[in-house]
Amino acid sequence: MQLRRWWILAAVAALALLVAACAEDDADDVDEVDDEVEEEVDEDVDVDDDEEVDEEVDEEAVDDLGLAEEGVLVAGSDLDFEPFEFIEDGEEKGFDVDLMNEIGERLGVEVEFVNSGFDTLLTQLDGGEFDVVISALTITEERAETVDFSDPYFAANQAMVVQADSGITGVEDIEGLDIGVQAATTGADYATENFEPDATVVEFPGTPEAFTALESDQVDAVFIDLPVASEQAEGSDTLELVAEVDTDEEYGIAVQMGNAALLDAINATLAEIVEDSTYETIYSEWFEGDVPEQFQ
Ligand code: ARG
Repeated sequence: MQLRRWWILAAVAALALLVAACAEDDADDVDEVDDEVEEEVDEDVDVDDDEEVDEEVDEEAVDDLGLAEEGVLVAGSDLDFEPFEFIEDGEEKGFDVDLMNEIGERLGVEVEFVNSGFDTLLTQLDGGEFDVVISALTITEERAETVDFSDPYFAANQAMVVQADSGITGVEDIEGLDIGVQAATTGADYATENFEPDATVVEFPGTPEAFTALESDQVDAVFIDLPVASEQAEGSDTLELVAEVDTDEEYGIAVQMGNAALLDAINATLAEIVEDSTYETIYSEWFEGDVPEQFQ
């Protein structure tokens, strides 16, 4: 009996030691992460001297960011929407890509892009496949019923592109036309509501397919976000941008509904990126002209 009690005591003591050792290990890990984050933030302070904002981000970075996997921010996107997101030489590129990577860097996490069809991005986000969706995604009331949006990070309108020799000069000429759009986009909704039944709206899964259809005379026009329309028209000898429609859209980064930790961290970082003019640097890499006032 005596012997057995001693044995149990010894086992309990050994277990206690083990638990203490593990806890110490964990504590070490946390310290290491803290140091890394502090170092990064210290560098930032040197650059822009804006202590208030940096402190805010420091706190966010060490907080739980509400990511599915710690340290990795999985970003879902339809990577076929130049100049916002596209793949070139096997690499993700574009304004959204640069912006998201900058946010990730400041939060001390690795951004991993997952390419997917635009029409399923928000359901996939909701189902936990990504931590965010960044895809030139317009903030709409309807979408905000299923996901939460960051503060706006870009302002855009819609535009119509046609074959330069088509004789179509604007939306007043749409009677009888086939107008190509990308399915599930705000452009598709606008075209359906405003151009039908005069014109026929033809949906394509991706934007490139819509432009290919235009180039091969399967549709008469493409109706799409203005910056994407200009990019396509500028890069082509045969296409022309003939109309701009003021839809006053704003793009936001979507997170799962209720993921306030991630949303707050993204918003604080976005504000910092605008404030220290990094936004302007990224913007001028992809667009001509001045940065819209709200992002200066
Ligand atoms: N801004 C439009 C929308 O939110 C089009 C976005 C399309 N984005 C893309 N990566 N294909 O509906």
